[in-house]
Amino acid sequence: MPESFYITTAIDYANGAPHLGHAYEKVLADVLARHARMSGRKVHFLTGLDEHGQKVQQTAMKRGVTPQQLVDEVAVGFREMLSELGISHDDYIRTTEPRHRKVVQEFLSKLHADGLIFKDTKSGWYSVRQEQFLSDKDRDENGAWPEIYGEVTQTTEENYYFRLSQFQPWLVEHIRSHPDFILPRFRQNQVLEFLKEPMNDLCISRPKSRLTWGIELPFDKEFVTYVWFDALTNYYSAVADKGLWPADVHVIGKDILSPPHAVYWPCMLRAMGIEAPRRLLVHGWWTIDKKKASKSAGNATDSLSFARSHGKDAFRYYLCREMVVGQDADFSEASFNGRYKADLGNSLGNLVNRLLNMVGRNCAGVVPAPAADEDPERSVRSLWADARRTYDEAFAEHQVSRALEGLWTFINALNAYIETRAPWKLAKSTEPADRARLDSCLAHVSEGLRLVGTALLPVMPDTAATLLRHIGQPVPSDFGSFDWSLAGSGVKVAEKCILFPQIDPPPAPAA
Ligand code: MSP
Repeated sequence: MPESFYITTAIDYANGAPHLGHAYEKVLADVLARHARMSGRKVHFLTGLDEHGQKVQQTAMKRGVTPQQLVDEVAVGFREMLSELGISHDDYIRTTEPRHRKVVQEFLSKLHADGLIFKDTKSGWYSVRQEQFLSDKDRDENGAWPEIYGEVTQTTEENYYFRLSQFQPWLVEHIRSHPDFILPRFRQNQVLEFLKEPMNDLCISRPKSRLTWGIELPFDKEFVTYVWFDALTNYYSAVADKGLWPADVHVIGKDILSPPHAVYWPCMLRAMGIEAPRRLLVHGWWTIDKKKASKSAGNATDSLSFARSHGKDAFRYYLCREMVVGQDADFSEASFNGRYKADLGNSLGNLVNRLLNMVGRNCAGVVPAPAADEDPERSVRSLWADARRTYDEAFAEHQVSRALEGLWTFINALNAYIETRAPWKLAKSTEPADRARLDSCLAHVSEGLRLVGTALLPVMPDTAATLLRHIGQPVPSDFGSFDWSLAGSGVKVAEKCILFPQIDPPPAPAA
């Protein structure tokens, strides 16, 4: 039985259009899912949409549609993004689906019956505009309420609470004893720091007088459950009947690590007697001009257009190469164009065409068998061993940018190897030893590119497949032939291959 691998992304808020931040997370998870499939694991890849809540209700009202109509429309846009980016998810969950509602209500009923959800009355400062209670920490340096809160009044409200605080000692111990629970590791310290302060119990409801667009509490029809209790449960509700729990990896952004994913979610599961997920993989933020890409900044939707103009695979490569998982990265047209031209066009695209040209010109289009084995060949093979080791180690830690960096070191070494061997000179020589060197050179470049093409399948699935086909190789569905084997010799290659066409800049707007 193949080992299973259950991977998820955050479910996106359904109150706006998809943007760069959403796109990146789905691409990252997709690359890990494809890599796991090629590694022989039985993958279940879940993504979806977070459809309830105040903002959705308000936006729908403003637009004069029902919340359901609004989320149905938004869901179309998000699913289009997934298909434009070539995301290979196995399931898409929407929190308005009955299968999700059923599980959320089961959780609520059990925790209520076990005394872990209780009703309480809270009095305090309440922001009408933000629809939330405030604490003194929210005041500005002069002790006043910042403008964003609008009118702030003293309010008393009844709600339901989850006994989160009860699980604090368990959670601290769990995080300490599972050093791979939160990756990258430096994020773990942030969570432990947060857990130094005593936690409050978690308010999980809103009265229907304030919010109707949510899942009704099964034990009190006057309330709906609110935000995280609903949203987090998607990871479980989507596979409740599939025997796939615990999740292997939840891919999330740093803004929703603590407290939602690192605190609420493991404690909710613990309270239910369900195992915690195995890992939280926490990525940073894409910024544009150093500002977080977001709907409200309005700076992020257009960046997706690069997937349309330059192809989804080039965009996927850029996202994976430019952002070190866990750190922030700045998106710009210049850095995108730089990588497109240098890494993709010049280093990789040209290398493929150099091989096809040389094999066409000197060997009637058929990759020769290697006949000489000297220092340059030994060096290429040893550099592949390094790249392969880096690739495997980086993927084990989900560090895709490091894997790609190692691959490009190898691609550049293949280019340098061609310069060293200078096959155009060898082809002119009448020495048999030179002919042997020429054949070896072509065989080694061909084999190097086969391995590069295989390694790139999770990141650039279509481009890597095109590359492999053009050098006469089958497209593997697994890493079974991922070792140096000179499998290329004897195969017929294509005449030429344009993997990364030169894209003209859009015409300047008329004066
Ligand atoms: N609905 C919640 C998540 C619930 S998960 C049970 C949510 N939605 S979101 O639409 O605001 O964000 C979805 C994901 O996109 C989050 O992981 C978030 O970190 C990520 N990103 C949103 N903007 C981002 C960037 N600018 N850069 C990278 N990812 C960011 O939070």
